[in-house]
Amino acid sequence: MAHPLVAANWKMNTTLTEAEALVRAEMAELGALDGLDVVLCPPFVSLGRVAGLVKGTRLHVGAQNLHWENEGAFTGEVSADMLRHLCKYVIVGHSERRQLFGETDEMVSRKVKAALAADLIPILCVGEVLEEREQGRAIEVVTTQVRAALEGVASTDRVVVAYEPVWAIGTGLAADGAAAEEMCGLARQLVAEAQGEGAAKYTPILYGGSVNPDNISQYVGQPNVDGALVGGASLKPDQFVAIARATAEARVA
Ligand code: PGA
Repeated sequence: MAHPLVAANWKMNTTLTEAEALVRAEMAELGALDGLDVVLCPPFVSLGRVAGLVKGTRLHVGAQNLHWENEGAFTGEVSADMLRHLCKYVIVGHSERRQLFGETDEMVSRKVKAALAADLIPILCVGEVLEEREQGRAIEVVTTQVRAALEGVASTDRVVVAYEPVWAIGTGLAADGAAAEEMCGLARQLVAEAQGEGAAKYTPILYGGSVNPDNISQYVGQPNVDGALVGGASLKPDQFVAIARATAEARVA
């Protein structure tokens, strides 16, 4: 079975001081959750501070994005080489990056490879927009996204896949448990296609999109949902701790 994992995507929220306060408010409780991987993804400028705070605890740190080149004339960008000493994970291909900043499947694929080459674990985000779901194309869209991102990835490379239907992100319109299971199951099959059955079994597959303490159980109660990628609720310590605790209760044997 894949290790359960809950990741906090703080997006473009928290100053350095606020980031520090958020970590301090939740790190004791999160650190006590045995058997669960918790990944905090603050903005780049807070990565070093957050990494310092959680050092020696069970908590992990992740970045929210990276560039695929390691250095050069790419004003404003941050590379895998710069991140590798600060964090262990990196979110790649979040729908906000795809929609607001024009990231294509090809760019996402290059980012996944750059992360892996630097020993970072990519949290690959995939998901359909509302129109695609209404047209019955969700499976096709997610299949294309996962195949493109994992093409050429080795069976030994560690990845995390987050299925995040775009219509559910930040809207309060969460997918139901059965839909999340269907799409997370698909994601696992696609990981098996790219990296083999053995790797797929151990790859954490997450659901994301309006996850909160009231709906988390319907996701992590499903066979193929190993955890969650949490946006809005990750900025509220009580809520994020409750989500992490429910995940640990459901999935840690
Ligand atoms: P949300 O965001 O939990 O606020 O819907 C999830 C995400 O964007 O990863």
